[in-house]
Amino acid sequence: MIRLDKYLADMSVGTRSEVKRLIKNGMVRVGDEVVRKAEYKIDETKDIVHIGEKQISYVKEEYYMLNKPAGVVSATEDMLHRTVIDLIDSKKRKDLFPVGRLDKDTEGLLIITNDGALSHRLLSPKKHVDKTYYAKINGKVTSYTVEQFQRGVNIGTDEDPEITKPGVLEILASGDQSEIRLTIQEGKYHQVKRMFQAVGMEVAYLKRESMGNLKLDPTLNIGEYRTLTKEELESLK
Ligand code: URA
Repeated sequence: MIRLDKYLADMSVGTRSEVKRLIKNGMVRVGDEVVRKAEYKIDETKDIVHIGEKQISYVKEEYYMLNKPAGVVSATEDMLHRTVIDLIDSKKRKDLFPVGRLDKDTEGLLIITNDGALSHRLLSPKKHVDKTYYAKINGKVTSYTVEQFQRGVNIGTDEDPEITKPGVLEILASGDQSEIRLTIQEGKYHQVKRMFQAVGMEVAYLKRESMGNLKLDPTLNIGEYRTLTKEELESLK
């Protein structure tokens, strides 16, 4: 059961005070009855709520997979830039957030949801969830780099070292510019970029390909999104 004003505000009908005004003005029907009390309790699994002709159905949780483009920020609000939430046109809820952050210039898999428990499970360092990235690297990545990443590299300073947990580095192409796939379980700020910096190289392009059991859908173009399937959601839980 949920208050009528919260029900409407959750579904992005308006702010809490805007929806209170709508209710007071007799604009909202529950079943056949006009309800004028904001605190009226709705059974969100059964009750049918209308504003005028428009039915407002309730969605408790939303789960999206976004192929994040470069140039948008992994935040819910930003004064200057478009956010990943702005890209989800079909969202119902107003409380969606990205599960973790990708840098502004990073592309690829980002989960967008309002499920805080799922987010915690995926991001908690204790859960050791694999994150796999594809990257183009300015520099020659060699089997020595693979060993360095396997041992852990210092992404801190000499005075204040911060040694990464082992990362699994796969070389896809080795040359002046190399292509790699890297799987890590940590998610420190700029982690992949700092790991390559630590071995004297620079990430020129970065894309996340998977998180836990969830793989970026290859049919999603950059900037496109879709809802997670039941199976995908199960595999994350
Ligand atoms: N590591 C980075 O450096 N940037 C990202 O966006 C994700 C991982």
